[in-house]
Amino acid sequence: MAKAASAPLPTGSVIGVLGGGQLGRMLALAAARLGMRCHVFEPEANCPASQVADHTTTAGYDDLAALLEFARNVDVVTFEFENIPDSALDAIAAEREIRPNRRSLATSQDRLAEKAFLASLGLTVAPYAGVSTMPELQQAVATIGLPLILKTRRFGYDGKGQVRLKVRQDIDSALSLIGAVPSVAEGFVEFERELSVIAARSHQGQIVCFDPGENVHVDGILDTTTVPANVTDAVIDEAKAIARTILDALDYVGVMGVELFATATGLIVNEIAPRVHNSGHWTQNACAVDQFEQHIRAVIGWPLAGGERHSNAVMKNLIGDDVNDTALTGTAGLHLYGKAEVKPGRKMGHVNRLSKKTP
Ligand SMILES: Nc1ncnc2c1ncn2[C@@H]1O[C@H](COP(=O)(O)OP(=O)(O)OP(=O)(O)O)[C@@H](O)[C@H]1O
Ligand SMILES: [Mg+2]
Repeated sequence: MAKAASAPLPTGSVIGVLGGGQLGRMLALAAARLGMRCHVFEPEANCPASQVADHTTTAGYDDLAALLEFARNVDVVTFEFENIPDSALDAIAAEREIRPNRRSLATSQDRLAEKAFLASLGLTVAPYAGVSTMPELQQAVATIGLPLILKTRRFGYDGKGQVRLKVRQDIDSALSLIGAVPSVAEGFVEFERELSVIAARSHQGQIVCFDPGENVHVDGILDTTTVPANVTDAVIDEAKAIARTILDALDYVGVMGVELFATATGLIVNEIAPRVHNSGHWTQNACAVDQFEQHIRAVIGWPLAGGERHSNAVMKNLIGDDVNDTALTGTAGLHLYGKAEVKPGRKMGHVNRLSKKTP
């Protein structure tokens, strides 16, 4: 069994990508520029990545035969989303190396494990407690105080799987609203701004960070990322140092998104995403090598690029009907994902607007 891949993979190698959404699509486009091919594994037909990938397997994550066949036909495996079942990963890992590694994935799949891991590194996280029952929730409210946010431990994205508790009366309904699943109660952070660092680490331990972006969410979904973030150089350095600490601790290979809250008393780590990240899309037009190429480089064992930015950038997500708004789509830096149906809240594309670089 050939497990790849400490030597750099040669041109023409096949990268297996689990997940065929827009992130998989943009990974496949970047891989193609490097002369690589992508084989996408995705349950849904005609997914955004399948339209540009060399090969697609359309099968469910419970189809172990399809997973084995997929793994045997690729040189290394990566992923564009976190919620991949363990049984699927077991089947693939027996055949091929998965980058980033499974520990990174497992840590980010479970918000409670993630918080404990980040805290164990000496990083600041919001006060938190695991909550599955009403007495545990009452205890969490007593310890953390209100307001707080209850988040499902698993499967949350775009602010889904979250309930905000503002007053004591909210306690009664919170567990049923969240769906009576294992959750984490988290103190509400009065942040000044939200930042994210997109960082990459090679298998030799080289780390490159892009400049932190400043993120604005609307209705729980990322709306814009602005670079440079409106923070001091010291905060930028601290944000990058936090990312380095996390990537080294996980012996990470690939690109990671690290989400941070900037507060009056310093940076708080919100969560990590062991993959390319929506808040890193600005790099496509403002950097010589973007987050997607950087991720592919790490996964195939090639040297990382520098991560410098040649312009300032504002990335604006095109959500739902935004994609039909020519005031948004009529400029350079447009990226569309090939999704046939426009739905409210669906990420259809994004646009990167550049301006002259300021420090
Ligand atoms: N403890 C908190 N205090 C204040 N605001 C919070 C807190 N946790 C989350 N938020 C807000 O809710 C947003 C979504 O939360 P979070 O990133 O944890 O969930 P998510 O569903 O994984 O989101 P995404 O997929 O956009 O990363 C955050 O970007 C932030 O604006
Ligand atoms: Mg988030």
